Amino acid sequence: MNLKQALSQSHEYARSLVQAGDTVVDATMGNGHDTVFLAELAGRSGKVYAFDIQQEALEETENKLKEKGLLNRCVLIRDGHEKMKQYVSESVRLVLFNLGYRPGGDHSLCTRGETTMQAVLSAFDLLMVHGLIILVIYHGGDSGFSERDYLLEQLPLMDPRKAAVMVNRFVNLPNCPPILVCIEKLK
Ligand SMILES: C[S@@+](CC[C@H](N)C(=O)[O-])C[C@H]1O[C@@H](n2cnc3c(N)ncnc32)[C@H](O)[C@@H]1O
Repeated sequence: MNLKQALSQSHEYARSLVQAGDTVVDATMGNGHDTVFLAELAGRSGKVYAFDIQQEALEETENKLKEKGLLNRCVLIRDGHEKMKQYVSESVRLVLFNLGYRPGGDHSLCTRGETTMQAVLSAFDLLMVHGLIILVIYHGGDSGFSERDYLLEQLPLMDPRKAAVMVNRFVNLPNCPPILVCIEKLK
């Protein structure tokens, strides 16, 4: 048995939940790895909405999707994920947040606790019952701790009649391994 890091765990949950034909959201496109992954899971008849504030992220992601013939099932949006409801109206099975900054990009263009939390609440409204919001929270180093601290303070306040919030983290490993958060919509 090897305990998996948060990113691998996030993909395992996504793989077990998303079905062909589903609509899903990649809330942080970055270099497009997760958008490609979700587009493959959603299949030919599915749809992926992907958000990022950086033009470079859209270009990287578009190139990767084109190479794999997946672009026509994706909608790439250059805007903050906190405005998700302006772009998505159908109900979604999964929303994935891979927080922090774009590897290889400007580290100051990173996600922030307040806007991430706004986006989580918008995503929750769009989620179908038993759908999942997954967050991979990077902390320490250039990411600092403020987004992690804000989210871990706000997420426990979600109504337990409507949402189950799970936090998965290593508590003894060095170098601040990322934290996985899963939010299931109960009703
Ligand atoms: C860690 S990267 C995402 C990695 C990506 N999922 C991948 O597969 O390469 C985080 C991304 O979030 C983006 N971001 C920051 N604030 C945002 C916001 N308010 N809305 C959407 N994306 C945002 C950054 O520009 C950055 O590209």
